Order: sequence, then structure tokens, then C-alpha cells
Amino acid sequence: MRITFFAAKSYDKDSFNKIKEQYPELELEYWETELSPKTASYVQDSEAICAFVSSDVSEKTIKVLSERGVKLILMRCAGFNNVDLEAATKYGIKVMRVPGYSPEAVAEHAMALAMAVNRHLHKSYMRVRENNFSLVGLTGVNFYGKTAGIVGTGKIGAAMARICHGFGMKVIGYDMYHNPDLDFVEYVELDELLAKSDLISLHCPLMENTHHMINIDTINKMKDGVILVNTSRGGLVKTDDLIAGIRERKFFGVGLDVYEEETQNVYENREDDILMHSTTARLLSFPNVIVTSHQAFLTQEALGAISQTTMDNAMAYLKGEKSGTELN
Ligand code: NAI
Repeated sequence: MRITFFAAKSYDKDSFNKIKEQYPELELEYWETELSPKTASYVQDSEAICAFVSSDVSEKTIKVLSERGVKLILMRCAGFNNVDLEAATKYGIKVMRVPGYSPEAVAEHAMALAMAVNRHLHKSYMRVRENNFSLVGLTGVNFYGKTAGIVGTGKIGAAMARICHGFGMKVIGYDMYHNPDLDFVEYVELDELLAKSDLISLHCPLMENTHHMINIDTINKMKDGVILVNTSRGGLVKTDDLIAGIRERKFFGVGLDVYEEETQNVYENREDDILMHSTTARLLSFPNVIVTSHQAFLTQEALGAISQTTMDNAMAYLKGEKSGTELN
């Protein structure tokens, strides 16, 4: 079975090529182009395609893919909010994903963002490079003894909770399901978490009921001087309200690996472009905001696990077996 990869980057090719000999039944075709209704129409003789977080897997694309004979969409990621699952089912296309590859990779990046905005590493790095050894404006806060609020204590949230616990923080959590492994976490309602946390880290999926869960009302419930980190999905945070909160000096710092409107930017080098989306530019204009481009997953361990599970998913489909990662 041939699998056409969309938006394949060098690190994707490296990690899949490393293991492809274990799967002689699978032929891999890498395309750098992103999946869209238009690029879907170029697919030829591929029963499967492989897409990622920034891919357009809407009904329009799915319809074209089905016309091109595609029967399987392999998402090489955990989140699937960009996939129209109903449409996939309607057109008889199976969708599989990689539910968990390295929760620690994402959680470690979340803490890296929190630490970077806290200790102003983005500024000190630039300063020292310019022979400016002044410390003025670089004062941070100790995390030790502070309260970390984890919204969504699934795989990644649990890893983040453990990291915060290791820092000597009191850890509180909000989730409908209480993770029995996290005996050091006190579960509270969202309002209490917002009011008590010095660091808030978002780890719940983007769904209808979590869309814009961080908005002006929830921001107003937060402590002044809170640090907010989002490594989950941009749509969890209403960006205009976040910007209003930043302007009102609500936040000590904000670390975003994901943000609304990121799709056009994600994994593209746009250094010569004039960005038309003002939200990104506005976010980047604040001294206490650090934005990374959906890179929290990007460790060698995570890439290895992603390629392994994706290939295993394809094999399960080929053999007519269940992998447990089916989304429809
Ligand atoms: P998971 O499914 O293990 O955990 C999600 C948790 O969120 C569950 O415990 C669930 O009960 C909880 N939840 C659902 N709705 C909630 C709500 N309204 N309020 C509070 N909690 C709620 O998922 P996992 O693996 O921990 O991933 C979390 C998210 O991280 C994914 O949905 C994905 O969007 C994002 N992600 C980001 C990556 C990046 O590179 N930035 C990489 C991988 C995942």
C-alpha cells in the first residue's frame, strides 16, 4: 500500500525512513505540500494519505480524496480537531491517529515556555549576544512553593503535573475525570483553579465546550501576575481577550506553542512575507509573550513513536485488524 505524506518535513522523512524497512508492505511517498482540497486532487494510486495538525482535512478535502481512491487517513498526531470525521465516515474513509507518543515531550516544552517567560530568557539571550549584561527588567519569580493549575489531566497534563510537582509547586487540576495516578493533585472547579494558580497550563482537547474557554471572563477570574501556557490548541484561548488581558497587565507572562490563526504559519518559513494576520503580529509585540510554532511535540523520542504508531496503524488497516487508534 502506498501512503502519500502531506507537509512532510526533513525530520518526518528521517524518522519514517529509519523504520520503513520493517514494513516492506508499505511504500512511502513524501510531499512537502500541505493537504488541501486542491492538493488532494493530485493524489494518485495511494490508498492512504498521512496528514498532520496543520492539514486541511475538511469535508471538501475528504470528498476529493475519496474521488482519488483514498480509503485511509493516517493522522501523525494526537489532536484531530482539523478532521471532519463525519465526512470521512460518509465517504467511507477510515481515520486513525497517534493518541499518545510522548506526553513528556509536550509537557517539557510547556514548562520550558513557562520558565522562559518567567525568567525572561528570550530577552537575556538577545541581550548577552549584544554584549548587554544588564539585569534590569529580568526579575522572575520562584516556582517553588507556588501553585500550578493544570487544565486537563490526561496524558500530557499528568506529565506537566509531575514536572510542576518536581519543582516543589502545589498542583491543582481541573478535569471531569480524576486521574488516579496523580495522588498529589488536588482537583478543584475551574473557577477555583483560575483564582488560585500562579501558573496555568492548558492540556485539554479543543472541542465545542472548550473552544474559547480562556476568554475575558475567565481571564478576569485569574490572579494578577499569573503565567499562562497553552501547548494544547489555539482555539482554547480567545486571542482578542488574551490581548486585552495582556494590555491590562494581568499576566506575568504568556507562553504559546499554539494560537488561533496559526495554520498559515505553522512549519512555514515566512520571513520575507508581510503577515496579513494582525493577531499574530500583536501577540509578538508584547515583551512578556513567547510564541513557538507548534513545536512542543518535536523531540527525537516523540518522532520515533509517531512514525512507529503510524506505520503500525497502516499495517492494522491492511490486515483488517483493529489498532485501537481508529477515530471513526
Ligand atoms: P488526553 O486525551 O490524554 O487528555 C485530555 C484530558 O482533557 C482528558 O483527561 C479529558 O478528560 C480532559 N478534558 C476534556 N475536556 C475537558 C474540559 N472541558 N475541561 C478540562 N479537561 C477536559 O490528551 P493528551 O494526550 O494529554 O493531549 C492533550 C492535548 O494536547 C491534545 O488534545 C492536543 O490538542 C494537544 N497536543 C499538542 C501538541 C503540541 O505539539 N503542541 C502535541 C500533542 C498534543
